[in-house]
Amino acid sequence: MRNSLISTGIDESTAPLLEYAESVAALHRAAGKTGDNAPGFFIQTFGCQQNEADSEKLAGLCVLMGYARVARPEEADLILVNTCAIREHAEKKALSIIGQYKHLKDANPSVVIGVGGCMVTQELRVSKLKNSYPYVSFTFDTGAMQYVPKLVYNALSGGKRSFILTEEWNLNEGLPSLPESPHSAWLSIMYGCNNFCSYCIVPYVRGRERSRPVQAVIEEARQLIANGAKDITLLGQNVNSYDGGTDIAGLMRRICALEGDFRLRFMTSHPKDASDRLIEAMAEEEKIVKHFHLPVQSGSDRILKAMNRRYTFDSYMDRIRKLRETVPDVSVTSDIIVGFPGETEEDFEATLRVMREADYDMVYSFIYSPRNGTPAARMEGQVPREVSSERMSRLLSLEAEISDRRNSRFEGRTLRVLADGISKNDPDMLTGKGDPVRPIHFKADPSVIGRFVNVKIKKTSTFSFEGEKEE
Ligand code: 5AD
Ligand code: SF4
Repeated sequence: MRNSLISTGIDESTAPLLEYAESVAALHRAAGKTGDNAPGFFIQTFGCQQNEADSEKLAGLCVLMGYARVARPEEADLILVNTCAIREHAEKKALSIIGQYKHLKDANPSVVIGVGGCMVTQELRVSKLKNSYPYVSFTFDTGAMQYVPKLVYNALSGGKRSFILTEEWNLNEGLPSLPESPHSAWLSIMYGCNNFCSYCIVPYVRGRERSRPVQAVIEEARQLIANGAKDITLLGQNVNSYDGGTDIAGLMRRICALEGDFRLRFMTSHPKDASDRLIEAMAEEEKIVKHFHLPVQSGSDRILKAMNRRYTFDSYMDRIRKLRETVPDVSVTSDIIVGFPGETEEDFEATLRVMREADYDMVYSFIYSPRNGTPAARMEGQVPREVSSERMSRLLSLEAEISDRRNSRFEGRTLRVLADGISKNDPDMLTGKGDPVRPIHFKADPSVIGRFVNVKIKKTSTFSFEGEKEE
């Protein structure tokens, strides 16, 4: 199925900026670059689902500008890099890829390279790109995607390189979106974060919380469903403090009331906002996937306080109990940081304890990475790398033990699976999404891709399930 452009809300101030997209397309037409001869665009995305959703909007803008997607950066006339800043490793990876693009610019001086996302919403990184990467034409920060056509137009017409921090925190309304997959869709419902967890760069690079109006979200959901979406994930840095005219529970109930055979997910949630109303909506609405991603970060009250998380081990476990009582067989997943400044062996053991008691299906675990400008980067007691690594390997083996046991409950059960695509490891198998969090590999004809099928689970392992399609 060919993907269609999805329109995302209305914004009076975005409309004039989108006229630059038409000007870029006109430049390409004048050069005879249309149809099969259209110039290529390539987007390299790092980081979280929010960035993936933003990249779908960048792709929508590229289509408006007359570009066609190509599979490799070598074939592209326009390369956009959407960066992440959550940990140092993410920034290093982005800088290394951007470094490799120098060869592409040498081989084809007309290629335009732009860098956006969380990394370049920091002054230090913007000046590094400006000064050390002369073949990068422009940067654009996370609240400024609407300027991309203007920046591309400027680059194509020989204008100066542009490295501006706009500090605009808009809602990205009115940008077209080109979904990567017609059947699994991201839907941003809010942006930014007000929590200022002491380790986290997000509030600085994505601004304060702002929610999209309910009507704009519902209209986008309606279009996605009409376009074939069967699995929709509502996105936001702190999705359960959504406040666009109703709360997240009310919003999800209204989306569930739309006609169509689809499932609804949401991420990421903060434990302090995991309301009873949300948990009850999950229990009552058949279309909401029974999966709650509820990052705990640490099990130690002392560390949680230093992290500015505003809950304790006990109040967190109270939410988990409420969830498990209300939503039978729910899958719970979490994020955990190892080696936060001042973390002692005793603190770390409290983290292992919360893992056992919460009984997570899966944990995303990270070694603490100091981020410039955050309070934790200046705290005393930075934990040596060897200590963090040793703790991490203990955490990973406990996680594997818990997940293996949790996953085995699905053996012999039949799950309703959305066939997502051909398996990357085995071209004879399909990969799909079932209700829980693991990918499910099964044999079936590729014609079922994009549809729900029943799969009997034969084998489970730590990272995936295997099964057989039932007729
Ligand atoms: N170091 C390590 N992990 C971090 N996260 C956020 N900031 C940092 C950091 N400075 C993790 C948190 C968050 C996830 C998206 O990334 O666990 O939930
Ligand atoms: Fe970062 Fe905390 Fe906001 Fe999540 S809730 S984005 S960890 S500041």
